[in-house]
Order: sequence, then C-alpha cells, then structure tokens
Amino acid sequence: MNTPATTDDGGTAAGAAAAVGARQIAAQSIAVLEANWRTTHTVPAGGLYPHQWSWDSAFIAIGLSRISPRRAGQEMDALFAGQWDDGRLPQIIFDPYRDADYAPGASFWQSSRIPGAPKHVETAGLVQPPNHAWAVWKIHQADPAESRRRSFLERNYSKLVHWHEYLSGRRDRNGSGLACIVHPWESGTDNSPLWDTVMKRIPGNCKTVLNRPDLQHADAGERPSQKEYGKYFWMAERYRDHNCDDADPDYPFLMEDPLFNTLLAVSELALAEIAGELGLPAGPHLERARGISAALEALYVPELGCYSARDATDGTMVHKATVNGLIPLLLTELPHADALLETLYGPRFMGNNALMVPSYDATAEDHNPALYWRGPAWFNMSWMVSVALEQQGHTEKAAFLRNNIARLAAEQDFPEYVDPWTGAAHGTRSFSWTAALALETTYHGSPS
Ligand code: SER
Repeated sequence: MNTPATTDDGGTAAGAAAAVGARQIAAQSIAVLEANWRTTHTVPAGGLYPHQWSWDSAFIAIGLSRISPRRAGQEMDALFAGQWDDGRLPQIIFDPYRDADYAPGASFWQSSRIPGAPKHVETAGLVQPPNHAWAVWKIHQADPAESRRRSFLERNYSKLVHWHEYLSGRRDRNGSGLACIVHPWESGTDNSPLWDTVMKRIPGNCKTVLNRPDLQHADAGERPSQKEYGKYFWMAERYRDHNCDDADPDYPFLMEDPLFNTLLAVSELALAEIAGELGLPAGPHLERARGISAALEALYVPELGCYSARDATDGTMVHKATVNGLIPLLLTELPHADALLETLYGPRFMGNNALMVPSYDATAEDHNPALYWRGPAWFNMSWMVSVALEQQGHTEKAAFLRNNIARLAAEQDFPEYVDPWTGAAHGTRSFSWTAALALETTYHGSPS
C-alpha cells in the first residue's frame, strides 16, 4: 500500500504532525470503505443506500485506487455488469436481498423485463452523472503495470464509448449537443433548486404506495419532502412504463444540467487519454469533448457569473446559482473561468468564510444549510472544485478545501454532507464517497 503524501514541509515538526494526521485520516477512511464493501462493490452507506450507486462507485473507485487499484477496478467491473444494450450505465445496481430497505427498488423497476436491460442483474432504468471514464483513467494511472496485466483499459474502453454514445445520442433530445437528464435523481443533486420550476408541473399522484425507508436513516428535515417524492415516483413510473426508451414525446422532465455535461466532457477527455494508451485514435474523443464544452456555453448566465440548467422542452433557462454551475471550472479552456472563480469566492459561495462549497447560493432566501441539495456542502463537489482550483493554479485555495474535506470527514464520522460554515454533520454517517475522497486528499502530491 502507498503512504499518504503530506511531507511538503518535510523535516519540520508541523510537517511530521501533518503526516501523522494524514495517516490517521487515511486509516479511518479505509475502515469506512472496508465496512461498506460487499464482495464486489461498495455501498454508499449500509443503511440509507444499501445497493451499488453509479457515480458514487466512480468517486469511491478514485479513492480506492490510491490504496488498491485492483479493488478500484473491481468496483467498476461490478458497475459495468449492469450496463444495458443501449449503453446506459444504470443509476443503481440492486442487491436482491435488500429490496425492502430502499425505495424505489428492484421490485419497482423490474428491469430484467425491459427489452435491452441485463437479464441476470436488476437495475434502475435511470442513470447518473458520467464520471466513470475519468475514474477508469485515474485507476489506470494509479498503477499502470497492474492495469496492463489485467487489460483493465482494453476491457473498459468499448463499454465507456458505448455509455457516452447513449448520452450523446438518445439523450441529446433537442440536438443542442448536450445530454438531457430525465429525472432529478439523474443529476445526483436530487432536490436542487435547479429543478423547482419544472417540478411544479409534475403530477404528484403516483400509482406506487409511497414508502420512505430513507427516513429511518436520516432526519426528515434533511431529506426531500413527501410531496417531492410523489413527483419523483410519478416520473420514474412514467419512464419505466415507456420501457425507459427515451422516446416518450410528452415526457415532462428534460433538463440540461451543467454538472452532468461537464462530467461528460471531462470523461470524454479521459477517453482520449485511454485511447492514446491503447494505440487508438484520440482525435474523435477530443472533438466530442470540444463539442460538449462549446454547447455548454449556452448554459452560462452572465448575471449570476456561473452556469445553470436549461429546460430542453421549451429552452427556458433557470436563473439559480448552484454548485452544479461551478463545476465547469474543471474544463481548463473555459471562457468564463475568471467569472466563475469570482462567483466561487464571492458571497454566494465561499465569501463568508465557508469551509466547503455550499450546494446552493448562500444569498438566496430559500437557502437552507441543512437540507440535502438546497444549501449544505457535499464532499464530492468540494473535491471536484479543489481539483479545478489546482488546475487553475489557485493552489492555496485548493489546499484549503482539501484540508477541510479531510478534517471535517474524519472529525464527524464521514457525514453525507455538512453545514458549509460550521461544518456540522448532516444526513447519514460512514458515507463511502466522503471516506474515499478524504482518503484521496491525503495522497495529494503523490503520483496518481
Ligand atoms: N439520491 C437518491 C436518494 O436519495 C438516489 O439516487 O435515494
């Protein structure tokens, strides 16, 4: 196993203390990941999220790659076992023994009856943000020799290409060059204010009897409401009952999300690296990444100084500043990088001494620092912003975020999310991506 890299001020007492601190944080993080490991994959949290989640697994694999690239590879293999014939990587791969513990589960989706879905594993029909090729490339970089021995990139390249083709093909519902999400769950930022307007027109009268096992594991005041759940289920039912075929002409939720599309572009760039390593042409991937980045510019809102979401059913832009709209900072040739950095450091986000990046505009009247995606800071988002800041040369600010990610995670039993200013823990605890990304920060500076 590699050792955490924390010796930039090597030799000094402070440097030695930091190294001990980092080793402790790494050990605690590994204990969480061990506890949440289920033979082939990691569950996000044993109680609240008892199955395998798609973008969670990719973040978890990024952390795992620092200590065991082989296990990180297994995490991705388990996820790809759920890939559909059309290329989609499902949001959730269900553990059949935990059907009663999460809703909507395998018995809701009954995916193996849907044409093109895998027959031997039950999955959700929805997807999540495409951070997978990014993760696969990082796993390879963590130990190229091991990756080559196991043909890791060869095995995954065509699956990743197929996944991206699904998103850039059937999910580009209006030909804008951006992929649409068809449900708030697909954004990974379920009750973000970005979806409020369109959610108003979604009926709440789902057929399924609403069951909320989630409320046994997190406070109801920190989770989406019952009303929101009625609408979430209504959309999931409609999508499922149309065989998840993306051809329902009147489907009401088609949103272009800057977070989802940025990760698609970042992953397309990772595919270019993977193709290069395999001796295949990287050009088509670079071209696609450029195309997505160019299309993303239509989502920039100058008055907010950040990107936002667009309703693909009628072209309406949402005017709300959320962390989703800051994530394009990951794209290095971004025309609005300076404005985005100003917004990040200003009163809407980090301006008032925030410890991590709030999920929603701190100046908005309905900002709530404890409610899921309507204010609190999430570890994956702050980690992505720290990566972006490092790329932009803002190394001190990046280190500030990394240190807070590691410290708050370890001090508070790896919470799902925190109050951005006090650091108070919210949601479930022993949350896998919090542990994985805290672990990752302790290796900053060592070769990936
Ligand atoms: N985040 C969703 C939930 O809370 C699922 O992806 O259940």
